[in-house]
Amino acid sequence: MNPELLAKATDSRQNALAPYSGFKVGAAIQTRDGRIYTGCNIENASYGLSICAERVALWKALSEGAHEFVEMAIVTEADTLTSPCGACRQLLWEYCGDIAIHLHSLKGKHKDHQLADLFPFPFDDRSL
Ligand code: THU
Repeated sequence: MNPELLAKATDSRQNALAPYSGFKVGAAIQTRDGRIYTGCNIENASYGLSICAERVALWKALSEGAHEFVEMAIVTEADTLTSPCGACRQLLWEYCGDIAIHLHSLKGKHKDHQLADLFPFPFDDRSL
């Protein structure tokens, strides 16, 4: 994994707006040509409008015209590693395919996955 990806996800976590859950998440996604886009979770008093760090990073990247992705880092300070929620897995699969997903806790835990392992038997364009 590119160490800069982890550093940027960690930095982005500092910007998390998580007053309701208190659970701060940082994410960073890298394109094939080396560009990195970051995101943090942003919550709202209308809880359902909150958005995950992974989706913020993905929307930023897509909206800047980035399309080919190779890896994403997700950083929290939880005792157990934080894996992307189901909605984020669906969206990451649609726009990134089988990228590497690096889960990292500031408490010293780390694990690398492939999205296909986290999101088996997907519903996607081949299902339509
Ligand atoms: N959250 C993320 O940003 N990413 C994840 O992978 C898991 C959950 C956020 C959503 C919400 O703001 C908070 O963490 C608690 O669920």
